[in-house]
Amino acid sequence: MTKEQQLKQEILQKTKEYYELVHKPIQTKPFVSGKSRVNYAGRVFDETEMQYLVDSSLDFWLTYGEYSKKFEKKLAEFLGVRWAFLVNSGSSANLLAFYALTSPLLKERQVKRGDEVITVAAGFPTTVAPIVQYGAVPVFVDMELTHFNIDVTQLEAALSPKTKAVMIAHTLGNPFDLGAVKAFCDKHKLWLIEDNCDALGSLYDGKPTGTWGDIGTSSFYPPHHMTMGEGGATYTDNPTLKKIMLSMRDWGRDCWCESGVDNTCGARFSQSFGTLPKGYDHKYVYSHFGFNLKVSDMQAAVGVAQLEKFPSFVQKRKENFAKLYEGLRNIDALILNSATPKSDPSWFGFMITLRDGVKFTRNELVEHLEHNNIQTRNLFAGNMLRHPMFDHLQKNVDYRVVGALPKTDKIMNDAFWIGLYPGMSDEAIAYMVETIRAYVAR
Ligand SMILES: Cc1ncc(COP(=O)(O)O)c(C=O)c1O
Repeated sequence: MTKEQQLKQEILQKTKEYYELVHKPIQTKPFVSGKSRVNYAGRVFDETEMQYLVDSSLDFWLTYGEYSKKFEKKLAEFLGVRWAFLVNSGSSANLLAFYALTSPLLKERQVKRGDEVITVAAGFPTTVAPIVQYGAVPVFVDMELTHFNIDVTQLEAALSPKTKAVMIAHTLGNPFDLGAVKAFCDKHKLWLIEDNCDALGSLYDGKPTGTWGDIGTSSFYPPHHMTMGEGGATYTDNPTLKKIMLSMRDWGRDCWCESGVDNTCGARFSQSFGTLPKGYDHKYVYSHFGFNLKVSDMQAAVGVAQLEKFPSFVQKRKENFAKLYEGLRNIDALILNSATPKSDPSWFGFMITLRDGVKFTRNELVEHLEHNNIQTRNLFAGNMLRHPMFDHLQKNVDYRVVGALPKTDKIMNDAFWIGLYPGMSDEAIAYMVETIRAYVAR
């Protein structure tokens, strides 16, 4: 063993000791009913995440490197797709996925400014933001209140000659009706982007969500199914979209050399592009107006360790959902989320909605839970259209709404969710069930 290898091994051993001394006691702290905080989400990790992170930091490559490549390969394998691209957040993944549809390489299917994209208003704002940022027109459809996803019966009403795509998320891990949405997209030759940020590991008809549409996106922000701190990914099976996303993620360049590598194509100084002089260095030829959305290899290193644990995370989320469901079903006042037919959700959270006419409000219940150390979340923006960001947009010009959105408003007013992440103990679940049951009964 060289001096360098020996030193590295010592550092990694010390990292493990540090984990065991500092982080493990927090992660394995016994739950004390009423005293311990029940967080809605949290990172679940052990010494491996920290060792890979330290290993990567010692390499000091810093940018996209070996761990990033490994992560992309493993994620693509896990999902059963040809390509996955790491980016620095789920929002960046949505940005990249949507902007990919605006590439001229897509010819008549290119999304142009003024074209319409069908989506929903109940969810996370950065599913919709790229559509508006580009100057396309989001068309909002209402939700349904059984699985808390897009009401697919309204898709045809949302269609216009300008419709080019559908871009929606699988709410809290519960797949939207992919059978209906995919059939609609196929029938009308529309792109489908699945925001899979809250649903990694979910299946619909036996196939992973995020792989039904043309592009899927993930977030690896800490509360999500797995984390690398900040991080995200896009994935696709379509070679043209792969080429576009790689270009747009990496500054818009035409060249596909990895960081630190030159002349992968073997024709670096012999090609012709645009009106550039023949042989202009391919490394600096730009085929798109792009971004730089890459992650550091240190983030990817944490992701590689998390992916190794991923199947157990999904399993635990399913078990926790089942326990919460069992504990809270048969309460007349509450509507619980249930799995979409044909799906096997990798749940992100446990959604609870008050039935019309109950004697307490969502905020009263939520404040009671928070007061009793149970962390809660709304379904993100509730109804996005009611946020100040829409104040300066013009209805029917910058965006369209299909009918009224009563169910979206109901979600905004009467729904919230609690956690079921893999770090949650059975005692914490029992405590949540007990506290909610007692409140509703009184
Ligand atoms: C459905 C959905 N899409 C996109 C995002 C954005 O992900 P990020 O926080 O990594 O930017 C989130 C964030 O939680 C989300 O829930």
